[in-house]
Amino acid sequence: MKNDINNNDRPRFATRFGVIATTVGSAVGLGNIWRFPYETGANGGGAFLLLYIFFVIVVGIPVISAEFLVGRKSRRNILGAYHTLAPSHRRLWAAAGSLGIISSVLILSFYSVVAGWTLEYLTEGVTGRLNDFAQGARHAAFDSFTAGWACVAWTIVVLLINALILLGGVRKGIERVSNSLMPLLFVILLALCINSLLLPGAADGLKFLFAPDFSHVTGRTVLNAMGQAFFSLSLGVGTMMIYGSYFSSKTPIVKSAAATAVLDTMVAVMAGVLIFPAVFSFGASPAAGPKLVFEVLPDIFAMMPGGAVWAPAFFLLLALASITSTISMSEICIAFICEQWGVRRRTAIAVNTLIAVCLGSLCALSFGPLADFKICGFTVFNLFDFLTSNLLMPLGGMFVAIFTGHVISRSIVDAQLAPAPRRIINAIVFSLRYIAPTAIAIIFVSGLL
Ligand code: PFF
Repeated sequence: MKNDINNNDRPRFATRFGVIATTVGSAVGLGNIWRFPYETGANGGGAFLLLYIFFVIVVGIPVISAEFLVGRKSRRNILGAYHTLAPSHRRLWAAAGSLGIISSVLILSFYSVVAGWTLEYLTEGVTGRLNDFAQGARHAAFDSFTAGWACVAWTIVVLLINALILLGGVRKGIERVSNSLMPLLFVILLALCINSLLLPGAADGLKFLFAPDFSHVTGRTVLNAMGQAFFSLSLGVGTMMIYGSYFSSKTPIVKSAAATAVLDTMVAVMAGVLIFPAVFSFGASPAAGPKLVFEVLPDIFAMMPGGAVWAPAFFLLLALASITSTISMSEICIAFICEQWGVRRRTAIAVNTLIAVCLGSLCALSFGPLADFKICGFTVFNLFDFLTSNLLMPLGGMFVAIFTGHVISRSIVDAQLAPAPRRIINAIVFSLRYIAPTAIAIIFVSGLL
């Protein structure tokens, strides 16, 4: 194993604002604006939201803190981090790191496809084509777009933009882009929320989002809420670990973890506030599933006053949110290739992009020419989504929780989590030792059964 990187040569984020912009940039993405609303819609509204918030607090914040801590202490890529910090069984722990690298590549592949859809909708919104469809015809238009080669082309465009940002490096690429895109994203989101709240009948949408209906809660709902929390906070893959490895030694880890979780949840709730009042106001179904954003919303924008502006604004929001997430997933693999294989960043970016273009194209084609190509009953796209969200991310979260709670020494943990108050550190360690691994194990096994 090559550990030839000099820690002092490693880049660091320049400012505190940059730390929050990059970590929130990773966390806020399609998971908040596309996935969270349809999961909430299909799982009983407010009851799902409560479960989700529960998992964010009890499991999410401790696991983000653990990832930041392991990253900053080791100042290495995810595989190197486990390998360096493990007092024994180093190879075994390095295998846990490899799992993260594999998940990050799989997520990047299917995620870029959906990010590509947002670029298509953004251009359709800007050119006015989005309104060309009669009500209800959007369904056929979406199906024919996702079944075609244009979808592969957009996936490649996303991956090329992603590569361009990454070529700038950690400070001038990742941090600088996140610093400008994240505030812009909040402004657009806020404007869209206010517009939705002013629609007639908006209150019904809010009631649906916030009033808990526990009759919909099943074991599956709990699994979905936990999977959503993991996906939304980008946990268990190593994004927070790699970003933690770029923190300065003065960055307060617990505060940063809490800020990331709170802002991420705020964006998810705001996305709900933007979507459900509009859905109810125009009499659409909130339980439309993944199609909610791509089939139902365009029809709603077409009927809405000022829709010609709101529609492109919404898809711009989605595009910005997704690109700050793809850069974080890519950085895991890039840092790994640079540090473990000893190659230049440019080469590592090329390798990461090439792999993602190949796998991403397979995912994109799952809606058209490869629709009948199934592995264990899943299309390639669905397989990558299922494997990562339901299995690999929780498993990765469990590894980092056990590693931080039981394997590395408590003095390292305490020193890294300082200056957080003692009782907060104790609560985090307690969750990492017992609550997080147990919750993940129960839900993981029940999900499999
Ligand atoms: N958290 C991102 C979202 O909510 O869209 C998705 C994500 C980013 C998952 C980075 C995993 C990851 F490593």
